[in-house]
Amino acid sequence: MPNVITIDGPTSSGKSSVGFLFSQKIGYQFIDTGRIYRAGALYILRNEIPVDNEDKVSAVFENLNVEFRHVGDKVKLFLDGEDVNSVIHSPEVTFIVPKIAAFAKARFFAKKLQKKIGSEKNTVMAGRDIGSEIFPDAKLKFFITADEKVRAQRRYDQIAKTDTGANFEEVLKNMEKRDMTDATREASPMRVPKDAVTIDTSNISTEETVEKMLEEYQKKFD
Ligand code: C5P
Repeated sequence: MPNVITIDGPTSSGKSSVGFLFSQKIGYQFIDTGRIYRAGALYILRNEIPVDNEDKVSAVFENLNVEFRHVGDKVKLFLDGEDVNSVIHSPEVTFIVPKIAAFAKARFFAKKLQKKIGSEKNTVMAGRDIGSEIFPDAKLKFFITADEKVRAQRRYDQIAKTDTGANFEEVLKNMEKRDMTDATREASPMRVPKDAVTIDTSNISTEETVEKMLEEYQKKFD
């Protein structure tokens, strides 16, 4: 049975960047499950499916045809064979994704998909409920977090690259709202998994964070 190492944490905590680098160092595949929810949200927007209809939204996740492919030094997500990486981080998708991710039935199908992916090969899987709900028996679990203002600044810097009208206060407010929705929903809320190693990345670089993760990995697996 392949190993799964889990990484959970709030928006812009750095979990995807550190998770990817960490996965490369240990030779595991990297799966960012936020992209599964984002791909579902994109499908819903494109097909004008009502966002508040749990059955219709869940049916999308039941039939979602997504595939993670390692392309060069990146992991890309394909939806129905199309590379959707440049569109799944749009403001429209980001706005609706926490709403649809709150449906228990939609999460049930997303969970099935995540379990399947994690059972195929050694995997580092990142999200909100990976250590608490999807792989609660994982031998190594991380919770990556950072100060709210630091996370908002990172998000702002990312958005400002393409949107010259970006506003820091608005970015902070939207981030707080999204984290609140994710942490207070009934179905698999974001939380620190039992036995997780928490790393605060507010004042440390991606490389330093990965160093800490490698130390934990060696303790558990060497
Ligand atoms: O990590 P990312 O910001 O791309 O995730 C987008 C959204 O997907 C989150 O705000 C959350 O609502 C949802 N999500 C989730 N469970 C996961 C991963 C993401 O509910 N395991």
